[in-house]
Amino acid sequence: MTIIVTGGAGFIGSNFVFHMLKAHPEYRIVCVDKLTYAGNLSTLESVMENPNFRFVKLDICDREGVDKLFAEENPDIVVNFAAESHVDRSIENPEIFLQTNIIGTSVMMDASRKYNVKRYHQVSTDEVYGDLPLDRPDLFFTEETPIHTSSPYSSSKAGADLLVLAYHRTFGLPVTISRCSNNYGPYHFPEKLIPLMIANALADKPLPVYGKGENVRDWLYVEDHCKAIDLIIHNGKVGEVYNVGGHNEMANIDIVKLICKELGKPESLITYVTDRKGHDMRYAIDPTKIHNELGWLPETKFADGIKKTIQWYLDNEKWWKDIISGEYQNYYEKMYSNR
Ligand code: NAD
Ligand code: DAU
Repeated sequence: MTIIVTGGAGFIGSNFVFHMLKAHPEYRIVCVDKLTYAGNLSTLESVMENPNFRFVKLDICDREGVDKLFAEENPDIVVNFAAESHVDRSIENPEIFLQTNIIGTSVMMDASRKYNVKRYHQVSTDEVYGDLPLDRPDLFFTEETPIHTSSPYSSSKAGADLLVLAYHRTFGLPVTISRCSNNYGPYHFPEKLIPLMIANALADKPLPVYGKGENVRDWLYVEDHCKAIDLIIHNGKVGEVYNVGGHNEMANIDIVKLICKELGKPESLITYVTDRKGHDMRYAIDPTKIHNELGWLPETKFADGIKKTIQWYLDNEKWWKDIISGEYQNYYEKMYSNR
């Protein structure tokens, strides 16, 4: 079994590579990544020498390069994680999101058709459903919730999802889609809420909370997401969408306060800054379908997962300090200095 995993040098993709090499040591895992600012080869250091692992530096929009790789590897399964993934960056510069997230997806699917892959899996997001109001805790995203996006990022992911379903109907490509809530865990890029707050708190820097900090996200430990995708590519029904989430809703401000508490840092570091444009209020997944059909349930409780995550950032300072000492400085200055 050969699986092409795109975006495997990023946060969730790398965790998926580790999970698959461990759970299915007989599989060949071919990781394709362009190594954008978000991709980090040092993340994959521990598997580089594994004979069942191959890393290929490649842009998923590069039709010729992708075709050549498929001809070489003749993959059974393709799992597409590669994407521009940060909402704030999509508000600054939407175009690259359309390029990678939509065109890149079509290039990967065209190759998957040509080389008759048995399964093309698209890693999508709960953000395609838009947001839910704070005063309706009874509402959740199901697979039938209409697509209703807020940011260029979520719109590009929704565009890709529609294309995936169209390739299934029009060309019979054997596809599945997973739409997951917010992940956290090791190798999370420090531009995102949880690792940014950990890194800033450790440096006694201000903790920039957007708006009033009351926006709610449904947090899932990254390993649980990887296990869900493993189940879907093996046992999920072709043509279907599966929502993945852990019924773990938390307001941003509560997460930031919890990080302060765990690190022994004062809440006076918290600084309320200008809100994100079009900021989604609440995400909440109903995971009934994946539970009933595939027996998936989240295994890591948030209280344990956040402790493990904070410990990982304490134990792996070099990984994230190398990142925040480079080009990231300019990004941080641009996004936060006049906020
Ligand atoms: P990430 O930004 O950490 O990693 C993205 C990876 O894709 C990087 O390694 C980057 O180099 C690579 N990449 C970007 N453009 C590429 C291109 N043109 N060709 C090849 N590689 C390219 O993202 P993440 O948080 O790990 O998210 C992975 C996927 O999961 C994305 O599709 C995202 O939409 C989805 N998702 C993320 C979350 C979350 O909470 N992080 C939740 C649900 C779904
Ligand atoms: O729901 C899944 C999505 O989760 C994925 O599709 C995206 O790829 C992923 O980046 C994530 O999107 P969010 O926008 O929810 O994640 P982010 O970490 O950027 O922000 C989480 C919340 O914290 C959000 O309400 C904005 C807020 N925030 C974020 C940052 C970076 C702050 O208050 N301050 C910050 O500095």
